[in-house]
Amino acid sequence: MTILVTGGAGFIGANFIRYWLDAHPLDRVVCLDKLTYAGNLSTLRPLLGRENFRFVRGDICDRDAVDALFEEERPGVVVNFAAESHVDRSIEDPGVFLRTNVLGAGVLMDACRKFGARRFHQVSTDEVYGDLPLDRPDLLFSETTPIHASSPYSASKASADLLALAYFRTYGLPVTISRCSNNYGPYQFPEKLIPLMIANALADRELPVYGTGENVRDWLYVEDHCRAIDAILSGGRPGEIFNVGGHNEMRNIDIVRLILRRLGKPESLIRFVADRKGHDLRYAIDPAKIHAELGWLPETRFEDGIARTVDWYLENRGWWEEIVSGEYRNYYERMYGGR
Ligand SMILES: NC(=O)c1ccc[n+]([C@@H]2O[C@H](COP(=O)([O-])OP(=O)(O)OC[C@H]3O[C@@H](n4cnc5c(N)ncnc54)[C@H](O)[C@@H]3O)[C@@H](O)[C@H]2O)c1
Repeated sequence: MTILVTGGAGFIGANFIRYWLDAHPLDRVVCLDKLTYAGNLSTLRPLLGRENFRFVRGDICDRDAVDALFEEERPGVVVNFAAESHVDRSIEDPGVFLRTNVLGAGVLMDACRKFGARRFHQVSTDEVYGDLPLDRPDLLFSETTPIHASSPYSASKASADLLALAYFRTYGLPVTISRCSNNYGPYQFPEKLIPLMIANALADRELPVYGTGENVRDWLYVEDHCRAIDAILSGGRPGEIFNVGGHNEMRNIDIVRLILRRLGKPESLIRFVADRKGHDLRYAIDPAKIHAELGWLPETRFEDGIARTVDWYLENRGWWEEIVSGEYRNYYERMYGGR
């Protein structure tokens, strides 16, 4: 079986490709990625020589290129991770979020229809539900919680979900959707909370925390997310949405303190900065459906996952220092330039 993974040079996509090739060694994985600032081909470096892996640089919005790739590879399954994914950037410049996250998803679904893929899986986010109050720990997002997006990012992800459900209803395209909580783990771009704090703490730079750091996120180790998508691809009914989360709510400030403790750095490095516009207070996923229907449960406890993650960033300084310095952008040219 050939599986097309879009956005596979990003954080979760790259973890997913590694996971998939381990779990399904007989499958062929094709990765389509535009290599925006968030895509880093060096993450996939160990796989580039493998016979059952192919990397293609391209834009999911480019219909001709997408059709040509489908014609050539005839993927049975498509998993769409490709997205602009940073909320702050969506507040600065929403246009590219609409283009990639909505129109790009539409181009992929059209190709799935045209070339007869048997599954299109849209990787979505719990942010489509908006936020929950801090003082109601009993409230959780279920799959039937109404969409109530707060940022241009989450609105674009919600739009893609609606489009996918419409393609299922209108054309019978076999789509599934996963809405996952915040992921953490290796290979996350150092603009996101956990790697940013680790990188700054190691350099003894200030750790900027929005507002008072009270905002709550539900954290899931990235490998657990990959296993959830695998479970949905094999057992999830087309047309269905699955929430994916670990019942693991943490305040941002507590995560930052935990990282400082693990690195032996002082809390005086924390600097509270002006809050993000429209900052969501709390996300919390109810994963009862994926557990009941597909038997999925997270396997990594937060204490273990965060320790593993901090250690990974310590042991792989080269990976993120290349990003911080901008050097990673040259990797594609070194690998493919002139070929
Ligand atoms: N990170 C999280 O905590 C989280 C949680 C829930 C859902 N998600 C969703 O999971 C997906 C992956 O998130 P991530 O954190 O790995 O993102 P990321 O920003 O690390 O990676 C996105 C990847 O998509 C590629 N890309 C962007 N625009 C493209 C285009 N037009 N054509 C082809 N490739 C393009 C980038 O080059 C990059 O490799 C996103 O759809 C995101 O909405 C993320």
